[in-house]
Amino acid sequence: MDIYGNYHHSLTLIQQMVTDKLKEFNQQAKADGKPELYEHLSSRIKGNDSMVEKCHRKGYPVTTESALRRCHDAIGFRIVCNFIDDIPRNLHALKQADWCRIVKEKDYITHAKPNGYRSYHVILDLTTPYKDIEGHVPGHYYVEIQLRTIAMDSWASLEHEMKYKHNIKDPERIGRELKKCANQLASCDIQMQTIRQLIHENDEEE
Ligand code: GTP
Ligand code: MG
Repeated sequence: MDIYGNYHHSLTLIQQMVTDKLKEFNQQAKADGKPELYEHLSSRIKGNDSMVEKCHRKGYPVTTESALRRCHDAIGFRIVCNFIDDIPRNLHALKQADWCRIVKEKDYITHAKPNGYRSYHVILDLTTPYKDIEGHVPGHYYVEIQLRTIAMDSWASLEHEMKYKHNIKDPERIGRELKKCANQLASCDIQMQTIRQLIHENDEEE
């Protein structure tokens, strides 16, 4: 069974549409003579099993309606940036864009999760040419975007992988080490930002 039912194809079309729009952001930055907005993009349609699992975990009925409406991350993007200051630049671009509306923001950068997770999450509401679950055309679809630096991204991948290793001897110790690592990466991100600033000031003097 496909929890997305007949809507699965629309999700992939919307994923492509958003990819194109986000790539335009970088082209625009380039055209304006500014540094690139992000280092790379990734995206996915949440797999059937993980969407079913999420519905169970949240206490939602396992339906297409839950997958597309109650959950907001059937379509998910990561915008992975070189520097922390690129994150607000991307947010600004999203806020200016006429093709989406931000309906929710979670700042896990200012307020890192207790385990050390950092990222800035936004939920977009998109008006699309495709029929939505209520039968409306143009149809509304949600897209989750996670904005993070390369350092935050590598930490999140590692931590995600650890979550699925169950026969670990000392999980508390690993948790503490992971958190230490997250804090060190966060201070590296700040240092890197300082270096970028210094190079930039140097360029301006020349
Ligand atoms: P989910 O039900 O897991 O989707 O969480 P949520 O919808 O309540 O929202 P939240 O914004 O907290 O998390 C959404 C997504 O962020 C997750 O699906 C992960 O991709 C990522 N995420 C959140 N917390 C963590 C974390 O502690 N570690 C890692 N690796 N990723 C996280
Ligand atoms: Mg999620």
